[in-house]
Amino acid sequence: MRVAMIGTGYVGLVSGACFADFGHEVTCVDKDAGKIEALERGEIPIYEPGLDDLVASNVKAGRLRFATELAPAVKAADAVFIAVGTPSRRGDGHADLSYVYGAAREIAAAIDGFTVVITKSTVPVGTGDEVERVIAETRPGCDCAVVSNPEFLREGAAIRDFKHPDRIVIGTGDDRARAVMTELYRPLYLNRAPLLFTDRRTAELIKYAANAFLATKITFINEIADLAEKVGADVQEIARGIGLDNRIGSKFLHAGPGFGGSCFPKDTLALMKTGQDHEAPLRIVEAVVSVNDQRKRAMARKVAHALQGDVRGKTVAVLGLTFKPNTDDLREAPSIPLITALQDMGARVRVYDPVGMEAAKGVVDKVTFCTDAYDCAQGAAALVIVTEWEQFRALDFARLKQAMAQPVLVDLRNIYSAEDAARHGFAYESVGRARK
Ligand SMILES: NC(=O)c1ccc[n+]([C@@H]2O[C@H](COP(=O)([O-])OP(=O)(O)OC[C@H]3O[C@@H](n4cnc5c(N)ncnc54)[C@H](O)[C@@H]3O)[C@@H](O)[C@H]2O)c1
Repeated sequence: MRVAMIGTGYVGLVSGACFADFGHEVTCVDKDAGKIEALERGEIPIYEPGLDDLVASNVKAGRLRFATELAPAVKAADAVFIAVGTPSRRGDGHADLSYVYGAAREIAAAIDGFTVVITKSTVPVGTGDEVERVIAETRPGCDCAVVSNPEFLREGAAIRDFKHPDRIVIGTGDDRARAVMTELYRPLYLNRAPLLFTDRRTAELIKYAANAFLATKITFINEIADLAEKVGADVQEIARGIGLDNRIGSKFLHAGPGFGGSCFPKDTLALMKTGQDHEAPLRIVEAVVSVNDQRKRAMARKVAHALQGDVRGKTVAVLGLTFKPNTDDLREAPSIPLITALQDMGARVRVYDPVGMEAAKGVVDKVTFCTDAYDCAQGAAALVIVTEWEQFRALDFARLKQAMAQPVLVDLRNIYSAEDAARHGFAYESVGRARK
């Protein structure tokens, strides 16, 4: 099948490259000429493990192309995916759908023959109806079907997630669209990935319900962690104790500095707004948003506590800036409010991240960018682990101690134990584990 992918970001590029790998003919389109030029030179504009090889091999095979111009790609396509951003709208937290509707208008003008237009971006319930209306208004009588096909891939494991999904959700009531979608995903269906066909509004809501549920699980264990700290219990053992129950499951039960990233914060907020608009408020999601917001700065207070409240003029080393390991994505990363809060308390902040440094330069201000963990630790009164990159899991404590002004470790991902730290002469703070 011939596919046009509109939006070549984290989702569009991975999805486009994977569809090409299945044997489809794909053109990835983006308005950002710099991104497309880089891709045409063989450079990958984002960090995603395995993506460089996947893109290179499919470009070489002639199945994957890049373009800034949308019309030729859409004209030739059987299926057009909308994979543009849907950030929080400034001011009210609703999803900003201007990129989606903008793309829909451009697609409508270019459609030639029956075409399936598929929203892969995460969009509030009812957006498919509006995309259909926008297309009909721009090109009355044009032959197309609008489908919802939300994406569930995770950055850092995106190719594996796309190729081995737990399920593929497809929202459509149109038989011709259903046939096209089945053909597109046939290679995965053969791998036994279930295709779940629903109506369009249900598919749209499934995506938000899934993200809100996962965000709730994280927030729940974070609050249990706070209680565990106060009463002298261990949140990791609690997570294991409840996670072994099949009804609960062990995933998304890692206590930490609060969720961030390009999806959970904006999607929980948008779902909350949708609930309020429809007079079906989602009180649990509202609590999750508020608890998570407050947690970010609370982590800076944890650092202050480890320094006995004496932060002003001290240097604090922050390891890990991206919102999770194996991505260069800093959107809504917990590191950002943590750094700001530490600076508000008068700290000087040194930072290091294995791949997020370039992206961080436009986002965090007045920090010293360092070359590795040990350089970052130079002169620091406390070392704070914010993102659990593999290379932070076996740090050389003796080297750190030598570099630091005082041996204080604040481990916001619980990758070490109090015993490890004490053995090396470090004072140690973590999340949800009683101080020993
Ligand atoms: N990032 C994730 O892990 C993830 C996972 C699942 C779902 N999603 C959803 O997928 C959508 C895309 O997310 P992303 O992280 O890939 O965003 P992104 O910001 O990385 O990429 C979006 C791209 O769309 C381009 N664009 C915008 N308007 C365009 C137009 N009219 N024509 C061509 N290109 C256009 C932008 O230049 C940008 O490169 C969002 O709705 C997001 O919520 C993201």
